[in-house]
Parts: sequence; structure tokens; C-alpha cells
Amino acid sequence: MVLHLGRRSFLAMVGGASAIATGSALLGRTAQLRSQASTGVPAQARLRSSGGRLDLELVAQETNVAIPGGPSRALTYNGLLPGPLLEAEPGDAVRIELVNRLSRPTNLHYHGLHISPGGSADNVFVSVAPGASHSYAFTLPADHPAGTFYYHPHRHGTVADQVFGGLGGVFIVRGALDQIPEVRAAEEQVLFLKDLPGEAGSSPMGMGMMLGREGAVLTVNGQVNPALTIPSGGLLRLRIVNASNARFWRLALEDHPFHLIATDGGAIEAPVELSELLLAPGERAEVLVRGERQGGRYRLLNLPYARGAGGMMGGRGSRMGMGMGMGMGRGMGMGMGMGMGMGRGRMGSGFEQQAPVPIATLNYAGSVTPLPLPERLLPVEPLPAPVRRRRFVLNHGMAPGLGMVFLINGRAFDHGRTDTSVSLGDTEEWELVNDGVMDHPFHVHINPFQVISRNGTPEPWRAWRDVVLVRPGETVRVRTRFDDFAGRTVYHCHILDHEELGMMGTLEISA
Ligand code: C2O
Ligand code: CU
Ligand code: CU
Repeated sequence: MVLHLGRRSFLAMVGGASAIATGSALLGRTAQLRSQASTGVPAQARLRSSGGRLDLELVAQETNVAIPGGPSRALTYNGLLPGPLLEAEPGDAVRIELVNRLSRPTNLHYHGLHISPGGSADNVFVSVAPGASHSYAFTLPADHPAGTFYYHPHRHGTVADQVFGGLGGVFIVRGALDQIPEVRAAEEQVLFLKDLPGEAGSSPMGMGMMLGREGAVLTVNGQVNPALTIPSGGLLRLRIVNASNARFWRLALEDHPFHLIATDGGAIEAPVELSELLLAPGERAEVLVRGERQGGRYRLLNLPYARGAGGMMGGRGSRMGMGMGMGMGRGMGMGMGMGMGMGRGRMGSGFEQQAPVPIATLNYAGSVTPLPLPERLLPVEPLPAPVRRRRFVLNHGMAPGLGMVFLINGRAFDHGRTDTSVSLGDTEEWELVNDGVMDHPFHVHINPFQVISRNGTPEPWRAWRDVVLVRPGETVRVRTRFDDFAGRTVYHCHILDHEELGMMGTLEISA
């Protein structure tokens, strides 16, 4: 039995002293890091398919890492943080041998890929014991969209610890988007965003789990404040992945807008100019940056973001309009939202960054004949009218013997129970309702969705996504179609600590 817990008692529970301590530690750390700039993003280990095949081994293990101010040990794939950058094309056959040298069970999830949820494909119910291996094999559909996807562990019970500990990597599918001449002319850079615990060790469990653990060290491709370069007149294409357990990344680049070209599931129809970009955990975006300045250095900043609970102390009204950069298709001034978070003495704010933190530096080098932005990208097919509507209410409560649990429709995750049964080929509309006090980014496996409206306001442009932020008091309507693959999979909150504490449901797609 699960008891509903009101906002007041929730805040009483999470507002303890340990959360306050975390907040001050975080402040100290981010201040220290501000002036450190390392040189260059190293060539990441990159594995590309050839002859229609991508074959590799991924060894999950704890290894030494060298991250200024960060942990000395982290969980890695093949000793790398981030794991190797994988690249394939539609139609390719992928084989991955996962070797578990961790002390706890693990598995692999191919976040955002439209592949089978069964067998040895994107099967999150597989458990690979310590010392054991598992052979993953799947084929990307011939019409799989091009985009930036994300592989990470997904074994319920260890996923949050393992992602927080460092595991994850980028899976790029190349296709039509990459062939658009203006996009093709751009220099490409992956930004794999991950916060790691400081050298003193990890954040406290318990309270930290409920809020969603954030690490004090902000890394981009495993580095603190790496340098990026752009020529005057040139175009830089950033493929950005939020690979954090719980941290939201709210990005702004000094004196340069972002030109959004792709969301989680691939291209949008035309670039959208944004002054800032908010990415919830698991979310990806691709943007073009124009080298429209004559020279200089510009900081890529992570702006403060209050993701509920603490922010709620000021009442709902004060949070309205925060971080609308991406969702609403228009950016906000960078000053907005700063100083809106609560003081440390109030909610503890273990998960609130208080000031902008530079996470990378863009340097101008050389110049080229100015490259234009693309005018059109690719069509985003509108989905037909839904054959069925469902409602998913996100909330939290207390379960005797378990403590705080996070719930969908009043229930905590049970892998043996089927929560949602759908039919292959159907289009459905899902109403996602956040009745709680914290932000919950809702994620669905296997099939992407389109956001239809947020609190009744129609989404300004169509996009394929697989993560959508649902803020406290918000109702978001999404539409999806269960294409190509029958089988059993899941949806969940992508604050992975919330997923572990119950905020996940099973989805059975029947032929
Ligand atoms: Cu990236 Cu089910 O998750
Ligand atoms: Cu996923
Ligand atoms: Cu959540």
C-alpha cells in the first residue's frame, strides 16, 4: 500500500540538514572550477560501422580517471568516460558484447533507438551478473532516422548508481540529416554532459536519492571546461546529450544563439533560434552555432535551474516561465531565473546550482567564407488522430517499510505487472500529469512521441522526442505510434533515482 504524501510533508522530509550540507559543498566546488580551462577535447574513441556491421565489446568496469576536482575512480566502458562513440547507419547490423566487470548486475539500453525491445536487442529486463557477459544483436531499420542517441545501463536496482558512477556513451545514427549541405558543411562536436561526484566521494544516499543525486563536478566529454573552436564565418554542429542521473543542463553560449536542428528523435522541420537550451536527463539536442563574431573566447554556461521541491518554496507562480528556452521555442534572457532559487537555509537545495558555471570555452581560430544556415531540414510527419487516450499521473508517496516511493498512477514499479497494454500500429495520446512537487522528465522506450500541448497550449512546432519534462502542476499531452516492434518495454521518469524508487511502468506492445 502506498500513501499519498502532500507537499508539506514531502518538504519536511527532504528539507533536512544533510541536504543543506550538500548545497554548500556544491557551491564551493563550482566556484573552484570556474577558472580552470583545459586544452582541447581529445579525440574520443570512435567506432564506426563498416560494410553494414558494427561489432564491438564493451567492458563495464571501475577504473582510474583523471578529472580535475573529480573522483579518482569511475565506472567506465572500456576504461573510457564517456564510453566509445558509436556510429552506425540505417540498416546496419549491430553486435555488442557486454562484459560485466562491475560488482553488481548491469545491462545495456539503447536510449532513443527504434529497435526491438525483445530478445537480445533493447531488452531492459536482461540482467548480466558480475563476471558474466551478454551478446546484444539488433538491426537498425532501413528507415531509422538520423540522430544522436544514448547508450547506458538499465538494470533496475543498479541503473542510477551506475549512470551516476560514470557509465554511458553516445550512439550516432547517420542519415538524411547529415546529407543536408549546410549541415554537412558544419564542423561536428559531441558534447556528452555528465556531472560527477567530487573527489570527496559521492553524495549522500537517502535524501539525495529522493531529490535525485547531482554531482558537483560538471564535465563535458569527461573534461572540465574543455576548449571548442570555430572559425569566423564557420558553422559548428553540437550534438548534446544530457547523460546525468538527475541534473538538468540549461545551456547558453555567450553572444551566440543556438540554432536547433534536431531533438531526441532526429531532425525538426526548420531551424529554431534559441538563446538557451534546457535538457532534462536523457534528453538530446543538436544545434548549429554560427561563427558570427570576429574572434575571442566565449563561455558555454550552465545556468541555474530549480527543478521543483526547493523552487516550490516560493510558490508555483515564481517558477512560471523558467527554462522555457527549448520547450516553448523561444529563449529567455540569461538573467532570468537567477536569484529565483531559494536561499540555502530554506530547502537545502542539494540539487540547485546557484550561479552560471562555465562548462566549455569556444575559441575563434581562423576564418572561412561565411556558411549559411539551412532553411529547411526534414519533414516531421504529423501523427493521425489517436485511437485511444490514457492518463499517467506522476506523484510520490510513502510505502511502509520502503520509505519514499515515486509513483505512476499510484503504483510503484513491479516488473512482473503489465501496466499498459497497447496494440502494434496504433496511435495513442497520453496525458502526462504531474501532481507532485518536483520536475519529472517522462521517457518512453522504443517509439518516439510528439508533444501536442503543455497545459493546453499547443506545441509551436513538431518534433520527435523520447523525453518530455512535466513540471509540477503541469499536464503534457503527447502522441505516439507503436510501430514495427511488438514486445515488452518500459516508460519512466529519467531522473534515474526516481526510476529506482518506483517511477516506472511496463508497456506491452502486442501484435
Ligand atoms: Cu535512458 Cu529507460 O532510459
Ligand atoms: Cu530509454
Ligand atoms: Cu522524477
